[in-house]
Amino acid sequence: MASASATTPTLPSTQTVWKIVRKGVPAKALVKEENAPVPKKIPKGNVLVKIQAASLNPVGYKMMRMAPNSFLKRIAEYDFAGEVVDANGNLQFKVGDQVFGSIPVGESFKTGQGALAQYTYVPAKATAHRPEGITPNEASGIAIVALTAYTALYHIGKLEAGQRIFVNGGSTSVGIYTIQLAKALGCKVYASASGKNEEFLKSLGVDEFYDYTKQPIHEALVQNPPSSKFDVIFEAVGHAYIPLYTHSEAYLAPNGTYISVGPTPDGFSETLSLLWNFFMHPKWAGGTKRRFEILRINKTGELLDEIAKAITDGKVKPVIDSVYKFEDVLSAYDKILTGHARGKVVVEVS
Ligand SMILES: NC(=O)c1ccc[n+]([C@@H]2O[C@H](COP(=O)([O-])OP(=O)(O)OC[C@H]3O[C@@H](n4cnc5c(N)ncnc54)[C@H](OP(=O)(O)O)[C@@H]3O)[C@@H](O)[C@H]2O)c1
Repeated sequence: MASASATTPTLPSTQTVWKIVRKGVPAKALVKEENAPVPKKIPKGNVLVKIQAASLNPVGYKMMRMAPNSFLKRIAEYDFAGEVVDANGNLQFKVGDQVFGSIPVGESFKTGQGALAQYTYVPAKATAHRPEGITPNEASGIAIVALTAYTALYHIGKLEAGQRIFVNGGSTSVGIYTIQLAKALGCKVYASASGKNEEFLKSLGVDEFYDYTKQPIHEALVQNPPSSKFDVIFEAVGHAYIPLYTHSEAYLAPNGTYISVGPTPDGFSETLSLLWNFFMHPKWAGGTKRRFEILRINKTGELLDEIAKAITDGKVKPVIDSVYKFEDVLSAYDKILTGHARGKVVVEVS
């Protein structure tokens, strides 16, 4: 979205932020700090953004739970939408530009910056112009989950028109983008969620729905495999779900790929069985004969522009579960921690 004005605004010297100060659940880990400094020295390659909205991601609370000491005393969360207030010499942005993006977790470690702030600086390469026709609240929830869906579909799965994908966790925010992008590509999409989300997922274009509360999904797929096996299985819940992989020869094509968003860092036994299956019990020793990949986002800048274009072209629509005020951040965390939000949990900052 183009800038309304190129005049550098006068910035306050202090601001309100939500800071991680100790390890634990959000209610224990976070404090609201009302006199935090507004950053003055912006490192090269970063822009200063006045935050309009921030969206929560599971990585936010997972990091609080397992935070090493070096991770403390920094502002929480990563995904944002806002307005550039200091372009800091980055030629692709100017003051007043309406933007969205995500502070990479590693950057947040280094700089202490986060999205639950009134002002934050963010790498220009992790920032893009907000597409026309969507609100800051909608834009705030795009970056991490859309980058994840893009990485799974295009970089790892290399999905092509006419192929079949199974999305475990179709109503996760990651799943919602994956389904829409796969449908836009012309694929047949199968997805799981609890029964209450069946109509919603079908409205996104899902061809076949599986209710995980009725029967374990791998059992349903073994008993009733698709007429042609899947080209990609994307495990988008984040609980490893080992049996979905270990039974996959029944429903994943021999040259297909099983992609996992990764087990929860605190799911110790799942992580152990994952390690056992993939490193101690390889294919030659009778392990599952299917390619397995754990997803890592490794590209941001240009991809965010592509995602913005997909939104402008109407291929993808952001979905919001709920919106909270800046002072109600802890209630927003209560919602995402249920594990049953349908779309993004948004915090309105200004
Ligand atoms: N590796 C990476 O770089 C990366 C990047 C982004 C996200 N992630 C991970 O990806 C996962 C999803 O993130 P998100 O933000 O999309 O999550 P989210 O939006 O908070 O997910 C909530 C959804 O999960 C569904 N769900 C819960 N249990 C399920 C189950 N057993 N089977 C199917 N659906 C289930 C719920 O549907 P129902 O209400 O119907 O149960 C709900 O709609 C998280 O673990 C996150 O940490 C990893």
